[in-house]
Amino acid sequence: MIIIAGEKMRTRYWRVNPFHPEKNKIIEAASFIRGGKTVAFPTETVYGLGADAFNPEAVQKIFIAKGRPADNPLIVHVAHLSQLKKLVQEIPPEAALLIRQFWPGPLTLVLPKSREVPYGVTAGLDTVAVRMPRHKVALELIRWAGCPIAAPSANVSGKPSPTSAKHVLKDMYGAIGGILDGGSTSVGIESTVLDFSSDVPTILRPGGVTKEQLEKLLKKVRLSPERENMNGNEFIPRSPGMKYRHYSPRGELYIIRGSIKKAVGKIRELVLNWQKEGKKVAVLCSRETHQYYQRNNFKADLLIILGSREDPKTVARKLYDALHWCDDKDMDIILVEEFPFEGIGYAVMNRIKKASGDRIIEL
Ligand code: TXA
Ligand code: MG
Repeated sequence: MIIIAGEKMRTRYWRVNPFHPEKNKIIEAASFIRGGKTVAFPTETVYGLGADAFNPEAVQKIFIAKGRPADNPLIVHVAHLSQLKKLVQEIPPEAALLIRQFWPGPLTLVLPKSREVPYGVTAGLDTVAVRMPRHKVALELIRWAGCPIAAPSANVSGKPSPTSAKHVLKDMYGAIGGILDGGSTSVGIESTVLDFSSDVPTILRPGGVTKEQLEKLLKKVRLSPERENMNGNEFIPRSPGMKYRHYSPRGELYIIRGSIKKAVGKIRELVLNWQKEGKKVAVLCSRETHQYYQRNNFKADLLIILGSREDPKTVARKLYDALHWCDDKDMDIILVEEFPFEGIGYAVMNRIKKASGDRIIEL
């Protein structure tokens, strides 16, 4: 088979009811998956770009559509535990405990892979990442396809993840077989990736399930320090995805760290300075602070309220949409208040930090 990168194809579009997906649409999308095509679909976290996990040629199409480096493995999505059993060698008791508690849901487990899983999915690794999504459309698609579905987030590699079909189409129209549009996703940031291949279960990527939630069930959990595997000057990440540029809008994103009062003052000052240079500047702020950016003739080119500082779940749900808006409105500079790290706030700040490429202004 020859696949020509960048070659345009017709992308089929199905609008589905996220709670009661229409059977005929799911069956048609599932036939695309069975036929070796790619289909984007909603999960509770972000939209995924799926293909039959047991079909290496179909999986290859995902890498091409995303421009994803071949050494970055994919998450395999299942709808039944019987599918998980086919993908992994064994399920450690602690993993079984988590599955009972958090599946279906935003928790991905990395386990030793079975022989059946193609190395194209795991990017040559002997482990495989698996999760059962908590979204009717995703689960029905997997059920009707009759195979586990390998799916990374449905964005071009390095760009902000998609939380609506509009985001997916912006990046992927003409490059994928089809898309199931089930509206906006509810969690808004990706699943937690938990590695069971080391002695102590290790969080490789914080996400929808928090460390505190995991600690209630596990004897010990480690949070993988991003730079723990420094070897000389070379950073050897445990999770291959960690070494790449991530979630980045086109504009330069800065995090402003400091007390709320100081942060607001600094952001106002920076906006004015950059606007004088002719730059378009966006501010991503909280419900508690937005009023301070709308006073005394001061006006950011784009002002987005992510939510209350007390409500990290809403901030998580809105973050990627805000980054997409910044791209759509051609923002050159994006200034983001630092949000509290509580609960899912930890994962939110992890994504914002990656999007910033570590541009942090400390006050
Ligand atoms: O919420 C999610 O997890 C979404 C939805 C679509 O399910 N998917 C998603 O996939 O975020 P992706 O490809 O954007 O991120 C998968 C992450 C990457 O950082 C990758 O390196 C890591 O999981 N990963 C996958 N397989 C792995 C493995 N065998 N060992 C270590 N890390 C792995
Ligand atoms: Mg991704």
